[in-house]
Amino acid sequence: MALKLCLTLFLLTITLTAQACPPSDQAALQAIKAALHDPSLGIFDTWTGDDCNAYYGVSCDPVTDRVAEITLRGESEDIMLQKTGGSGFMSGAISPAICNLDQLNTLAVADWKGVSGEIPACLTSLSGLQFVDLAGNNISGEVPADIGKLNKLTFLSLSNNAISGKIPASIVNLWSLKHLDLSNNRIFGELPGDIGKLKRLNRLLLNQNQLTGSIPSSITNIRSLVDLDLSMNQISGWVPFQLGTMPVLSSLSLNNNLLSGEIPATLLSSFGLNVVNLSRNYFDGFLPDVFHPKTYFLSFDISFNNLKGSIPQTIKSAMFFGQVDLSNNHLCGLIPEGLPFEKLEAASFENNDCLCGSPLHDCKG
Ligand SMILES: *[C@@H]1O[C@H](CO)[C@@H](O)[C@H](O)[C@H]1NC(C)=O
Ligand SMILES: *[C@@H]1O[C@H](CO)[C@@H](O)[C@H](O)[C@H]1NC(C)=O
Repeated sequence: MALKLCLTLFLLTITLTAQACPPSDQAALQAIKAALHDPSLGIFDTWTGDDCNAYYGVSCDPVTDRVAEITLRGESEDIMLQKTGGSGFMSGAISPAICNLDQLNTLAVADWKGVSGEIPACLTSLSGLQFVDLAGNNISGEVPADIGKLNKLTFLSLSNNAISGKIPASIVNLWSLKHLDLSNNRIFGELPGDIGKLKRLNRLLLNQNQLTGSIPSSITNIRSLVDLDLSMNQISGWVPFQLGTMPVLSSLSLNNNLLSGEIPATLLSSFGLNVVNLSRNYFDGFLPDVFHPKTYFLSFDISFNNLKGSIPQTIKSAMFFGQVDLSNNHLCGLIPEGLPFEKLEAASFENNDCLCGSPLHDCKG
């Protein structure tokens, strides 16, 4: 009896609160469903009926009942993915019908490994988009040339796909953007010279592509930048010394490029930088003797360059060095003894010209 009452109340609540989303949104979602293939989870079994808000991964605006968010993640703790141990697979593509969802602000179809095809060109007509995450798929083609139209976008990740082409020039118009991740794709060409227009960026991750040209000095105008990763490209030229004086930059990865010239002293004397990887470039000259008592590096890797001279004595005054790699250069002389260097192993110093002292062999005579 009580159960029956509950059920009646439940059904009553549903009929009172469930709202139909407009037929055009329903049709768009059905087209999206038809273009994606989920072999094992049954995600799209929930995508039926006229209450789009009840579809797994879909949220509607409570006032207009228009579809506002699509969030389908293939790596998550979500109950939907329990069957497959938290990691799902989907193939297929993102249907251009998505562009009919003109009130969409969030689109995440990420970490499904097999979702392929191109980013629908019309996506840039969804002017309300704030969050786009298509990372961890097999998406090919290029970043849409007019991506810069999405002036509300704060988050754009296309990392870990098969995207090629250049970084579109219009990208610098995304003035709201805080997070830009295009890492691990096949993007080539140069960084836009006016990338510094992206004033609100916190993270700029372009690593593992085929980028060439030099690091535009305008990048140092991005005062909010915390994390810059340009590693594993073919970037050449000098490192702008202003990178070492940026107010909140804490992680700088430039390893595995074709960079040359001296390592700017500002990078070593910086108060804020605490992860620096300059490994596997063509840096030469001496290591600037500019360490100080507030030097704090969680990780500091300058291995596989052409650095010469001795390890600066001021390094002894540093507060902390975590991981350190000075190996495979042309350094020479006594390894400074002192607290920050006490725990380091020989591998941190190997393959230099004539470094000596602990943890390497004693200096002769
Ligand atoms: C990715 O797409 C390519 C074709 O573009 C295909 O050959 C490859 O098998 C796909 N990989 C996965 C993991 O689906
Ligand atoms: C620096 O990057 C290289 C990749 O070339 C990586 O192997 C190394 O572990 C990184 N260094 C540190 C200290 O993380």
